[in-house]
Amino acid sequence: MDKPKVVLGVSGGIAAYKACELLRRLTESGHDVRVVPTASALHFVGAATWSALSGNPVSTEVWDDVHEVPHVRIGQHADLVIVAPATADTLAKAAHGLADDLLTNTLLTARCPVVFAPAMHTEMWEHPATQENVATLRRRGAVVIEPAVGRLTGVDTGKGRLPDPAEIFEVCRRVLARGVTEPDLKGRHVVVSAGGTREPLDPVRFLGNRSSGKQGYALARTAAARGARVTLIAANTGLPDPAGVDVVPVGTAVQLREAVLKASSDADAVVMAAAVADFRPATYAAGKIKKKDGEDPEPIVLVRNPDILAEISTDRARPGQVIVGFAAETDDVLANGRKKLERKGCDLLVVNEVGERKTFGSEENEAVVLGADGSETPIPHGPKEALAETVWDLVAPRLG
Ligand SMILES: Cc1cc2nc3c(=O)[nH]c(=O)nc-3n(C[C@H](O)[C@H](O)[C@H](O)COP(=O)(O)O)c2cc1C
Repeated sequence: MDKPKVVLGVSGGIAAYKACELLRRLTESGHDVRVVPTASALHFVGAATWSALSGNPVSTEVWDDVHEVPHVRIGQHADLVIVAPATADTLAKAAHGLADDLLTNTLLTARCPVVFAPAMHTEMWEHPATQENVATLRRRGAVVIEPAVGRLTGVDTGKGRLPDPAEIFEVCRRVLARGVTEPDLKGRHVVVSAGGTREPLDPVRFLGNRSSGKQGYALARTAAARGARVTLIAANTGLPDPAGVDVVPVGTAVQLREAVLKASSDADAVVMAAAVADFRPATYAAGKIKKKDGEDPEPIVLVRNPDILAEISTDRARPGQVIVGFAAETDDVLANGRKKLERKGCDLLVVNEVGERKTFGSEENEAVVLGADGSETPIPHGPKEALAETVWDLVAPRLG
């Protein structure tokens, strides 16, 4: 089989050096990569580096190798175009259909999925001109990854940083795997919860669970690759932020509830993959609980936590909002799942069997998705991202 053909457009931002790492990941995973830097990008990283790392010729202008008509052919033959970093200038040119160098010509001739990973100072990113250009590109079907928040050029920090190359690579891989030019979650806002809540007993101890957050992160990543704006409510995961996803860190079930209610007010879909503690200690000791010689320990009294899934399913923040729950069961998996679906009132329930060495922390999962309409969709054993794709396949047609 031919290697998938990827065009890596690099524009003139300080983050151009990070595109070398993206290029390496793409070539090492079996992609044929043609790097098309802009003239400004070559001020940051030279053509020799792009050519040596990609094994392909590198030009910035339409005037090289004219007999091969590169301004048309490179775009026409691509399976994916990824522009990383995408400067404010290149986004503007792409949104307005300018074609004054090889990269902008390629963007006009490409009929494959196109991904932009913008990086710039916060002011440039927030400027209405840039925001309108991004909205135009998204409306036309491009995936525009939200920049990350963090250190920018110099001492500044804020939104505008290029996401981690490993995360951009994941977006590319998923977009290529789906091979669609029109992302089906485009224009949608989805909220995903991930991880496991921790209910503190005292400043050093908590009641927690074994959830790693990997399934929720896979859901967030795949939704972003399918064009959604994603808010990820992350409970104690320690995982790297997925590219283009707004991450809201939380600790306890009560904090998770607040964050979910806030984020879901304008959401089209909410997927509750986090393992939320049913109970929390009734009291919190301000100082570390000490053992006392000759005395038995005090029993821990628990109180109920709010049932977030039932609450958001009963009081939908928007008509037609799709709610998905997860049920981790250790026995009688399907029967318990069906009961839970009815009790919670959500639209879909992903039921999986868990145990000490099953599912938690693993890269793989298997499940059955139960629908309120009586449907049952088994998802065979496989990577958590495959399960995530199936969940979005089931959510997408239910969105109003
Ligand atoms: C040191 C330096 C860093 C820059 N970093 C960025 C950046 O991160 N994002 C951006 O949009 N522009 C940045 N610029 C401005 C662009 O290089 C400039 O707008 C250029 O015209 C972009 O051309 P291009 O889009 O064809 O690559 C930077 C300029 C300099 C001198």
